Amino acid sequence: MKKTILFAILIGAALNAADGAALYKKCAACHGANGEKKALGKSEIINTMSKEELTTSLKEYKAGTRNTKGMGALMKGQVASYTEADITAVSEYISSIKQ
Ligand code: HEC
Repeated sequence: MKKTILFAILIGAALNAADGAALYKKCAACHGANGEKKALGKSEIINTMSKEELTTSLKEYKAGTRNTKGMGALMKGQVASYTEADITAVSEYISSIKQ
């Protein structure tokens, strides 16, 4: 029983990681394959942000309440279709990228 639960958790974590990487693909065009670029020369470098900072800022973009460089509307479009689980997964992925 215990082994089954552990296995389920491991599979869940693996799927989550895969999702995050897949969800990040379209972000790479601006933020760099490893989140190492200033998107359009404007954003902060996102691979140095913590998972919590990433989750918070992406939720704020989705809600339309964040606009730090005058391009919040652009980022709102990027995450508009992302669910809360998607935001968590992509944040986890970005914060796990090694610089
Ligand atoms: C077309 C280019 C482009 C794409 C694609 C894009 N971004 Fe951005 N991103 C930006 C810009 C420009 C900003 C600065 C927005 C502002 O004014 O607040 C930004 C800001 C951010 C920030 C906050 C960093 C800061 O400056 O505080 C995060 C986190 C982020 N983007 C993550 C993502 C994720 C995750 C995706 C994919 C779902 C994505 N971005 C796709 C251009 C892009």
